[in-house]
Amino acid sequence: MKPVRVLSVASEVYPFVKTGGLADVVAALPRALAREGVAMRTLVPGYPAVIDALRDAEALHMYARLHGGPARLLAAHAAGLDLLVLDAPHLYSRPGNPYLGPDGEPWPDNAFRFAALSECAASIARGVVPGLAPDIVHAHDWQAGLAPALIHYGGGPRPGTVMTVHNLSFQGQFPRELLAVIGLPPHAYAIDGVEYHGTIGYLKAGIALADRITTVSPTYAAEIRTPEGGMGLDGLLRHRTDALTGILNGIDDTVWNPRTDAHLVHRFDVTHLDARAGNKAALQARLGLDVEPSTFLFGVVSRLTLQKGVDLLLEALPAVTGNGAQLAILGAGDKSLEDACIAAAGRHPGRIAAVIGYEEALAHLLQGSVDALLVPSRFEPCGLTQLCALRYGAVPVVARVGGLADTVIDADEEALAAGSATGIQFAPVSRGNLERAIDRAVTLHRDVALWRSLQSRAMSTDVGWTRPAKQFAALFRELAAHRDA
Ligand code: ADP
Ligand code: GLC
Repeated sequence: MKPVRVLSVASEVYPFVKTGGLADVVAALPRALAREGVAMRTLVPGYPAVIDALRDAEALHMYARLHGGPARLLAAHAAGLDLLVLDAPHLYSRPGNPYLGPDGEPWPDNAFRFAALSECAASIARGVVPGLAPDIVHAHDWQAGLAPALIHYGGGPRPGTVMTVHNLSFQGQFPRELLAVIGLPPHAYAIDGVEYHGTIGYLKAGIALADRITTVSPTYAAEIRTPEGGMGLDGLLRHRTDALTGILNGIDDTVWNPRTDAHLVHRFDVTHLDARAGNKAALQARLGLDVEPSTFLFGVVSRLTLQKGVDLLLEALPAVTGNGAQLAILGAGDKSLEDACIAAAGRHPGRIAAVIGYEEALAHLLQGSVDALLVPSRFEPCGLTQLCALRYGAVPVVARVGGLADTVIDADEEALAAGSATGIQFAPVSRGNLERAIDRAVTLHRDVALWRSLQSRAMSTDVGWTRPAKQFAALFRELAAHRDA
């Protein structure tokens, strides 16, 4: 079968630039899809971290002027990826967070920075580089949302387009006056085009104009069609129901493999769960927690934002300490939540620890150490940390929303009797329900055999990319065939 050629367009890619799970997914998809007969190239902005990682990059095309300066399209292999890089120093040659300036505010020219990315994708789709035109353009989140729109309004033969929503809460809205500057015709500013509450909505554009829409879990695909979960786009998403599917994310099970993980002090698998105790002791010592093997240890690995419900957890701390349990938090994000985590640790020395920062190695050790991973998100499109937790035998205690609802099987009576439980869910998301979930975890843990069975069932959950990649491949193939017909 002829491979389907897909151009994936994204603003982050692991290991070069990452603010969240988007980067992991963008990096994992090409490898998983290669096994399914899909040849995927990944177009990303030329941030310093990307440019620095390129060796033997080939310049495929020059743009004399792209939103304020000259730019080049580079091709290179890096980190196992077929990368296309938009080298536009006037837009991307800025260190640090890909979206925010040193003042913590979005870069004032983000409209142009990400319009340029989409314009580059659209030019590749039009065949600006001979031999590179894809069958499908796969756009991720608002930063790539204009790509389906530019391709749609560009006219002529064109590839199929797929818009993947990783998080509906970031929508990319910019002044309507930019319409012509970003390359859109006047008629694009319409309710069935890019217009969104008097602005140009980049994510809205992608959702309105892509041939297909995916999001990262079936439950989130349902939630975003409701007024409660739709963040203003539910009407459009209901209108596009036939084009929308939820495909669960996976994790890279070679990177997240407790048998081989170099970040663990003791490696383990489902038949050697005792080895986790050594990791737990190491983690407790490293974080200044009392080194107590039998104390229940909760963990958090998260962006510290309202989405993640960290504020609820801080309110629910008496449930942790009152049960004699400990808590290890690894996270970074909103300053006020970071400060609140540090303050909580200060109030409970030896019992609560907070590491503020982004630390890949510590995230692995934490997953391989804690008894339970807490994910009290208010909404969660998919969530990757609970998948890592399942794989590492850290029983996930999660809010029953989005992808958390789809990936964790609650230890209710029925699931316990059937031996199918993999974690604990609570709903609706509230302090009280979180406290009860914490109590339930501690109670279940007292039954050593039962907890072992939860852990082993969790560890046997399929969290890899094989199944999602098959779903994406089928979607791409169907769309490509449809367009050929
Ligand atoms: P989101 O993308 O909403 O932040 P996900 O759970 O999908 O949430 O993905 C988060 C990713 O970032 C996971 O790979 C997780 O392990 C990682 N991560 C989050 N915070 C940290 C941190 N402070 N240190 C290390 N890794 C982190
Ligand atoms: C977003 C979501 C998260 C999801 C990730 C990757 O950051 O918040 O739930 O797992 O994207 O799709």
